[in-house]
Amino acid sequence: MTQDEMKTLVGQAALQYVPPGGIVGVGTGSTVNRFIEALATLKDRIRGAVSSSSASTERLQALGIPVFDSNEVGEVAVYIDGADEIDHQGFMIKGGGAALTREKIVAAQSARFVCIADESKLVQVLGRFPVPVEVIPMATQRLIRQFAELGGTARLRLKEGQPLVTDNGQYILDVAGLQIGEPLRFESDVNQWPGVVTVGVFAHQKAALCLLGTAAGVKPLSF
Ligand code: 5RP
Repeated sequence: MTQDEMKTLVGQAALQYVPPGGIVGVGTGSTVNRFIEALATLKDRIRGAVSSSSASTERLQALGIPVFDSNEVGEVAVYIDGADEIDHQGFMIKGGGAALTREKIVAAQSARFVCIADESKLVQVLGRFPVPVEVIPMATQRLIRQFAELGGTARLRLKEGQPLVTDNGQYILDVAGLQIGEPLRFESDVNQWPGVVTVGVFAHQKAALCLLGTAAGVKPLSF
């Protein structure tokens, strides 16, 4: 089975966690795009979605799924999103699609995080994938130095030769070379650094369940 087929499989499998008549939290990325396509088949049986990015909002609306502002709704029953890495405790690295801040906001607003990912994302220790960090632009160079003190190499994410600007008007640093043995502590520590908007380690908002796409089919991992 190809990686794309695994993404389609887990995107479809996530439908069983969508609350009938309810509102679903929707993440961002190529795996979530498969979920959004599957969700369109249920659109008459849900109220709508809360979205974590303008890219997902556009896709949802194009398929006729109403998108609510997160301030218009209370707690959401389930949040469905992908991951760049997930470990055996359900801790994740996210933000490869630059949507980490809104993803964390919707995850925090949701009772249950269901991660959908192909098996290449499962790791023993987080850190092979460079950790995305959304930062206030004026703090960029100081934060690059601060990550160097931790042994990380932080690079400003570019798009067409210019700094990529997030949906929130901020920059992204991608930090390579870290081994994140204590994700809860790492997330709490880095979030305190002046100029950090959001660190792409999801430990306090970890997954409750991962639907992992494998060659043998969908393998559910509960945490
Ligand atoms: C976007 C994310 C995505 O969930 C993550 O990058 C995984 O994406 P994909 O499903 O395309 O591999 O965190 O900010």
